[in-house]
Amino acid sequence: MVAPGGRGGGGGFRGGRDGGRGRGRGPPGGRGRGGPPRGGPMKRDGGRGRGGAPRGGGRGRGGMKGNSRVVVEPHRHEGVFIAKGKEDALVTKNMVPGEAVYNEKRISVQNEDGTKVEYRVWNPFRSKLAAAVLGGVDEIWIKPGARVLYLGAASGTTVSHVSDIVGPTGVVYAVEFSHRSGRDLVNMSKKRTNVIPIIEDARHPAKYRMLVGMVDVIFSDVAQPDQARILALNASYFLKQEGHFVISIKANCIDSTVPAEAVFAQEVKKLQAEQFKPMEQVTLEPFERDHACVVGGYRMPKKQKPTS
Ligand SMILES: C[S@@+](CC[C@H](N)C(=O)[O-])C[C@H]1O[C@@H](n2cnc3c(N)ncnc32)[C@H](O)[C@@H]1O
Repeated sequence: MVAPGGRGGGGGFRGGRDGGRGRGRGPPGGRGRGGPPRGGPMKRDGGRGRGGAPRGGGRGRGGMKGNSRVVVEPHRHEGVFIAKGKEDALVTKNMVPGEAVYNEKRISVQNEDGTKVEYRVWNPFRSKLAAAVLGGVDEIWIKPGARVLYLGAASGTTVSHVSDIVGPTGVVYAVEFSHRSGRDLVNMSKKRTNVIPIIEDARHPAKYRMLVGMVDVIFSDVAQPDQARILALNASYFLKQEGHFVISIKANCIDSTVPAEAVFAQEVKKLQAEQFKPMEQVTLEPFERDHACVVGGYRMPKKQKPTS
Protein backbone atom coordinates (compact mmCIF):
# COMPACT_ATOMS: atom_id res chain seq x y z
CA MET A 1 0.00 0.00 0.00
CA VAL A 2 1.47 3.32 -0.97
CA ALA A 3 0.35 6.71 0.20
CA PRO A 4 0.87 9.67 -2.02
CA GLY A 5 2.63 11.35 0.86
CA GLY A 6 2.19 11.67 4.58
CA ARG A 7 0.01 14.51 5.75
CA GLY A 8 2.00 17.38 7.07
CA GLY A 9 5.35 16.96 8.70
CA GLY A 10 7.36 17.10 11.83
CA GLY A 11 7.22 15.37 15.15
CA GLY A 12 8.30 12.05 13.73
CA PHE A 13 10.20 9.28 15.42
CA ARG A 14 12.12 6.45 13.96
CA GLY A 15 10.56 3.08 14.47
CA GLY A 16 12.67 0.09 13.58
CA ARG A 17 12.37 -1.23 10.06
CA ASP A 18 12.25 -4.66 11.59
CA GLY A 19 8.74 -4.28 12.84
CA GLY A 20 9.78 -3.14 16.24
CA ARG A 21 11.83 -6.19 17.09
CA GLY A 22 15.31 -5.94 18.32
CA ARG A 23 15.11 -2.47 19.72
CA GLY A 24 15.41 -2.19 23.43
CA ARG A 25 16.43 -5.79 23.89
CA GLY A 26 19.97 -5.12 24.77
CA PRO A 27 22.86 -6.97 26.29
CA PRO A 28 22.76 -8.65 29.67
CA GLY A 29 23.25 -6.33 32.56
CA GLY A 30 21.23 -3.54 31.03
CA ARG A 31 18.44 -1.85 32.85
CA GLY A 32 15.59 -4.06 33.89
CA ARG A 33 17.51 -7.29 33.82
CA GLY A 34 17.61 -9.81 36.55
CA GLY A 35 17.25 -13.48 37.17
CA PRO A 36 14.13 -15.29 36.14
CA PRO A 37 11.30 -14.91 38.60
CA ARG A 38 10.17 -17.81 40.69
CA GLY A 39 7.67 -20.04 39.02
CA GLY A 40 9.31 -20.26 35.64
CA PRO A 41 11.45 -18.37 33.24
CA MET A 42 10.40 -14.99 32.00
CA LYS A 43 11.89 -13.18 29.05
CA ARG A 44 13.46 -9.90 29.90
CA ASP A 45 14.96 -7.31 27.78
CA GLY A 46 18.29 -5.83 28.52
CA GLY A 47 16.93 -2.37 28.64
CA ARG A 48 18.53 0.13 26.40
CA GLY A 49 19.66 -1.97 23.53
CA ARG A 50 20.56 -1.39 19.94
CA GLY A 51 19.09 1.38 17.95
CA GLY A 52 16.34 3.18 19.70
CA ALA A 53 14.14 6.06 18.96
CA PRO A 54 15.65 9.47 19.15
CA ARG A 55 14.98 11.57 22.16
CA GLY A 56 13.15 14.77 21.62
CA GLY A 57 10.17 13.31 19.82
CA GLY A 58 8.52 14.52 22.98
CA ARG A 59 4.82 14.89 23.07
CA GLY A 60 4.62 16.09 19.50
CA ARG A 61 2.07 14.85 17.04
CA GLY A 62 4.35 12.14 15.79
CA GLY A 63 4.23 11.25 12.18
CA MET A 64 5.67 11.39 8.77
CA LYS A 65 7.66 14.05 7.05
CA GLY A 66 5.56 15.71 4.37
CA ASN A 67 5.37 14.75 0.74
CA SER A 68 7.41 11.60 0.92
CA ARG A 69 5.95 8.40 -0.46
CA VAL A 70 4.72 6.30 2.38
CA VAL A 71 4.31 2.55 2.29
CA VAL A 72 2.23 0.91 5.01
CA GLU A 73 3.11 -2.64 6.00
CA PRO A 74 1.67 -4.92 8.65
CA HIS A 75 3.64 -5.08 11.88
CA ARG A 76 4.21 -8.51 13.34
CA HIS A 77 1.55 -7.65 15.95
CA GLU A 78 -1.72 -8.18 14.12
CA GLY A 79 -3.72 -4.94 13.79
CA VAL A 80 -0.61 -2.77 14.10
CA PHE A 81 1.16 -1.34 11.03
CA ILE A 82 4.35 0.48 10.16
CA ALA A 83 4.26 3.44 7.80
CA LYS A 84 7.56 3.57 6.01
CA GLY A 85 8.55 6.89 4.59
CA LYS A 86 11.44 9.20 5.26
CA GLU A 87 10.89 8.29 8.88
CA ASP A 88 9.08 5.17 9.98
CA ALA A 89 6.08 5.42 12.23
CA LEU A 90 3.89 2.98 14.07
CA VAL A 91 0.27 3.37 12.92
CA THR A 92 -3.14 1.81 13.44
CA LYS A 93 -5.98 1.64 10.93
CA ASN A 94 -8.45 4.39 11.77
CA MET A 95 -11.85 2.96 12.83
CA VAL A 96 -13.33 6.40 12.12
CA PRO A 97 -11.70 7.66 8.91
CA GLY A 98 -11.51 11.44 8.67
CA GLU A 99 -11.29 11.91 12.45
CA ALA A 100 -8.28 12.37 14.68
CA VAL A 101 -8.68 11.76 18.41
CA TYR A 102 -5.87 13.84 19.95
CA ASN A 103 -4.64 15.79 16.93
CA GLU A 104 -2.43 12.92 15.85
CA LYS A 105 -1.31 12.70 12.24
CA ARG A 106 -3.26 10.64 9.77
CA ILE A 107 -1.98 8.94 6.65
CA SER A 108 -4.28 8.07 3.80
CA VAL A 109 -3.26 5.19 1.58
CA GLN A 110 -4.78 4.18 -1.73
CA ASN A 111 -5.25 0.49 -2.44
CA GLU A 112 -4.77 -0.97 -5.90
CA ASP A 113 -8.54 -1.06 -6.37
CA GLY A 114 -8.74 2.69 -5.71
CA THR A 115 -10.25 2.42 -2.23
CA LYS A 116 -8.61 4.42 0.54
CA VAL A 117 -7.53 3.36 3.99
CA GLU A 118 -6.63 5.82 6.69
CA TYR A 119 -4.06 5.16 9.41
CA ARG A 120 -3.34 7.15 12.58
CA VAL A 121 0.21 7.65 13.81
CA TRP A 122 0.76 6.03 17.20
CA ASN A 123 3.30 7.99 19.18
CA PRO A 124 5.33 5.96 21.71
CA PHE A 125 6.05 9.09 23.71
CA ARG A 126 2.33 9.31 24.39
CA SER A 127 1.43 5.67 24.72
CA LYS A 128 3.11 3.05 26.87
CA LEU A 129 1.61 0.27 24.79
CA ALA A 130 3.21 1.76 21.66
CA ALA A 131 6.49 2.11 23.60
CA ALA A 132 6.27 -1.57 24.55
CA VAL A 133 5.66 -2.55 20.91
CA LEU A 134 8.67 -0.54 19.78
CA GLY A 135 10.57 -2.00 22.75
CA GLY A 136 10.18 -5.38 21.07
CA VAL A 137 7.60 -7.07 23.29
CA ASP A 138 6.77 -10.50 21.88
CA GLU A 139 3.03 -10.49 22.54
CA ILE A 140 0.47 -7.84 23.39
CA TRP A 141 -2.52 -10.18 23.05
CA ILE A 142 -4.53 -7.18 21.85
CA LYS A 143 -5.52 -8.05 18.32
CA PRO A 144 -8.49 -7.90 15.93
CA GLY A 145 -11.61 -9.27 17.59
CA ALA A 146 -10.14 -9.23 21.12
CA ARG A 147 -12.17 -8.21 24.16
CA VAL A 148 -10.03 -5.88 26.24
CA LEU A 149 -10.48 -4.40 29.71
CA TYR A 150 -8.38 -1.23 29.87
CA LEU A 151 -7.67 0.14 33.38
CA GLY A 152 -6.47 3.76 33.57
CA ALA A 153 -7.92 4.97 30.29
CA ALA A 154 -7.25 8.69 30.92
CA SER A 155 -8.72 10.73 28.05
CA GLY A 156 -8.51 7.80 25.68
CA THR A 157 -5.33 8.42 23.69
CA THR A 158 -4.10 4.83 23.80
CA VAL A 159 -7.63 3.46 24.13
CA SER A 160 -8.37 4.88 20.67
CA HIS A 161 -5.48 2.89 19.16
CA VAL A 162 -6.59 -0.23 21.02
CA SER A 163 -10.03 0.41 19.51
CA ASP A 164 -8.43 0.56 16.04
CA ILE A 165 -6.53 -2.68 16.67
CA VAL A 166 -9.44 -4.77 17.97
CA GLY A 167 -11.68 -3.33 15.24
CA PRO A 168 -15.43 -3.66 14.87
CA THR A 169 -15.55 -7.25 16.11
CA GLY A 170 -13.64 -6.48 19.31
CA VAL A 171 -14.52 -4.42 22.36
CA VAL A 172 -12.62 -2.17 24.75
CA TYR A 173 -14.04 -1.59 28.22
CA ALA A 174 -12.19 1.55 29.29
CA VAL A 175 -12.14 2.37 33.02
CA GLU A 176 -11.09 5.80 34.28
CA PHE A 177 -11.96 7.42 37.60
CA SER A 178 -11.11 11.03 36.80
CA HIS A 179 -14.23 12.82 35.63
CA ARG A 180 -12.20 15.41 33.79
CA SER A 181 -10.35 12.82 31.65
CA GLY A 182 -13.53 10.78 31.53
CA ARG A 183 -15.32 13.56 29.62
CA ASP A 184 -12.91 13.22 26.69
CA LEU A 185 -13.08 9.45 26.94
CA VAL A 186 -16.87 9.49 26.74
CA ASN A 187 -16.80 11.90 23.77
CA MET A 188 -14.30 9.73 21.94
CA SER A 189 -16.44 6.63 22.50
CA LYS A 190 -19.45 8.28 20.84
CA LYS A 191 -17.80 7.75 17.48
CA ARG A 192 -16.05 4.50 18.37
CA THR A 193 -18.76 2.00 18.93
CA ASN A 194 -16.35 -0.67 20.20
CA VAL A 195 -15.33 1.47 23.22
CA ILE A 196 -17.43 1.26 26.39
CA PRO A 197 -16.33 4.07 28.72
CA ILE A 198 -16.70 3.40 32.43
CA ILE A 199 -16.14 6.29 34.81
CA GLU A 200 -15.45 4.37 37.99
CA ASP A 201 -12.68 3.49 40.39
CA ALA A 202 -10.91 0.35 39.17
CA ARG A 203 -10.55 -0.66 42.83
CA HIS A 204 -14.28 -1.43 42.85
CA PRO A 205 -15.00 -3.70 39.88
CA ALA A 206 -18.28 -4.80 41.46
CA LYS A 207 -19.62 -1.35 40.55
CA TYR A 208 -19.20 -2.04 36.83
CA ARG A 209 -19.68 -5.77 36.70
CA MET A 210 -23.00 -5.35 34.89
CA LEU A 211 -21.28 -3.46 32.06
CA VAL A 212 -18.29 -5.69 31.42
CA GLY A 213 -18.26 -9.17 29.96
CA MET A 214 -15.48 -11.73 30.23
CA VAL A 215 -12.38 -10.45 28.49
CA ASP A 216 -9.37 -11.97 26.72
CA VAL A 217 -6.88 -9.45 28.03
CA ILE A 218 -6.52 -6.73 30.66
CA PHE A 219 -4.27 -3.79 29.96
CA SER A 220 -3.45 -1.85 33.11
CA ASP A 221 -1.90 1.60 33.30
CA VAL A 222 -3.26 3.11 36.52
CA ALA A 223 0.13 4.19 37.94
CA GLN A 224 -0.90 3.41 41.52
CA PRO A 225 1.11 1.80 44.34
CA ASP A 226 -1.50 -0.98 44.64
CA GLN A 227 -1.78 -1.57 40.89
CA ALA A 228 -0.98 -5.30 41.11
CA ARG A 229 -3.91 -5.73 43.51
CA ILE A 230 -6.17 -3.63 41.24
CA LEU A 231 -5.25 -5.82 38.29
CA ALA A 232 -5.83 -9.00 40.30
CA LEU A 233 -9.21 -7.81 41.52
CA ASN A 234 -10.37 -7.02 38.00
CA ALA A 235 -8.96 -10.28 36.67
CA SER A 236 -10.92 -12.22 39.29
CA TYR A 237 -14.14 -10.69 37.92
CA PHE A 238 -13.51 -10.41 34.21
CA LEU A 239 -10.42 -12.19 32.87
CA LYS A 240 -11.02 -15.58 31.34
CA GLN A 241 -8.92 -18.51 32.47
CA GLU A 242 -5.73 -18.57 30.38
CA GLY A 243 -6.40 -14.97 29.41
CA HIS A 244 -3.57 -12.44 29.40
CA PHE A 245 -2.49 -9.23 31.06
CA VAL A 246 -0.27 -6.35 30.05
CA ILE A 247 0.76 -4.00 32.85
CA SER A 248 2.76 -0.81 32.67
CA ILE A 249 4.80 -0.24 35.82
CA LYS A 250 6.09 3.20 36.74
CA ALA A 251 8.72 2.49 39.38
CA ASN A 252 8.53 5.72 41.33
CA CYS A 253 4.75 5.49 41.69
CA ILE A 254 5.30 2.37 43.72
CA ASP A 255 8.53 3.03 45.62
CA SER A 256 10.88 5.87 44.82
CA THR A 257 13.39 4.82 47.49
CA VAL A 258 14.73 1.72 45.73
CA PRO A 259 16.14 1.15 42.23
CA ALA A 260 13.57 0.72 39.48
CA GLU A 261 14.71 -2.86 38.81
CA ALA A 262 13.96 -3.81 42.42
CA VAL A 263 10.46 -2.35 42.11
CA PHE A 264 9.81 -4.29 38.90
CA ALA A 265 10.99 -7.51 40.58
CA GLN A 266 8.69 -6.85 43.57
CA GLU A 267 5.73 -6.24 41.27
CA VAL A 268 6.43 -9.45 39.36
CA LYS A 269 6.37 -11.34 42.69
CA LYS A 270 3.06 -9.74 43.63
CA LEU A 271 1.60 -10.79 40.28
CA GLN A 272 2.83 -14.35 40.72
CA ALA A 273 1.10 -14.47 44.09
CA GLU A 274 -2.20 -13.58 42.35
CA GLN A 275 -2.35 -16.41 39.80
CA PHE A 276 -0.61 -14.42 37.09
CA LYS A 277 2.25 -15.91 35.17
CA PRO A 278 4.57 -13.11 34.02
CA MET A 279 6.19 -14.20 30.77
CA GLU A 280 8.13 -11.21 29.54
CA GLN A 281 9.29 -7.80 30.64
CA VAL A 282 10.45 -4.92 28.48
CA THR A 283 11.70 -1.51 29.41
CA LEU A 284 9.76 1.48 28.08
CA GLU A 285 12.92 3.54 27.78
CA PRO A 286 13.79 5.71 25.97
CA PHE A 287 10.15 6.77 25.73
CA GLU A 288 9.40 6.63 29.46
CA ARG A 289 12.04 6.68 32.16
CA ASP A 290 12.01 3.93 34.80
CA HIS A 291 8.95 2.24 33.37
CA ALA A 292 8.61 -1.41 32.44
CA CYS A 293 5.88 -3.38 30.78
CA VAL A 294 5.18 -6.90 32.02
CA VAL A 295 3.09 -9.32 29.96
CA GLY A 296 1.83 -12.74 30.90
CA GLY A 297 -1.00 -15.20 31.41
CA TYR A 298 -3.70 -15.74 34.03
CA ARG A 299 -4.63 -19.01 35.69
CA MET A 300 -2.44 -20.87 33.24
CA PRO A 301 -2.50 -24.66 33.31
CA LYS A 302 0.22 -26.31 35.33
CA LYS A 303 2.90 -27.95 33.24
CA GLN A 304 2.39 -31.70 33.03
CA LYS A 305 5.26 -33.71 34.41
CA PRO A 306 6.69 -35.96 31.67
CA THR A 307 5.77 -39.58 32.29
CA SER A 308 8.75 -41.83 32.66
C1 LIG B 1 -0.70 7.02 33.36
S1 LIG B 1 -2.32 7.56 33.18
C2 LIG B 1 -2.95 6.56 31.87
C3 LIG B 1 -2.58 6.99 30.48
C4 LIG B 1 -3.35 6.21 29.44
N1 LIG B 1 -3.27 4.79 29.68
C5 LIG B 1 -2.86 6.49 28.02
O1 LIG B 1 -1.98 5.77 27.53
O2 LIG B 1 -3.39 7.41 27.40
C6 LIG B 1 -3.09 6.80 34.57
C7 LIG B 1 -4.58 7.02 34.59
O3 LIG B 1 -5.13 6.11 35.52
C8 LIG B 1 -6.19 6.75 36.19
N2 LIG B 1 -6.39 6.02 37.45
C9 LIG B 1 -5.56 5.96 38.51
N3 LIG B 1 -6.09 5.21 39.49
C10 LIG B 1 -7.28 4.77 39.03
C11 LIG B 1 -8.29 3.95 39.59
N4 LIG B 1 -8.18 3.44 40.81
N5 LIG B 1 -9.40 3.71 38.84
C12 LIG B 1 -9.52 4.24 37.60
N6 LIG B 1 -8.60 5.03 37.02
C13 LIG B 1 -7.49 5.29 37.73
C14 LIG B 1 -5.69 8.18 36.36
O4 LIG B 1 -6.78 9.07 36.59
C15 LIG B 1 -4.98 8.41 35.03
O5 LIG B 1 -5.85 8.97 34.09
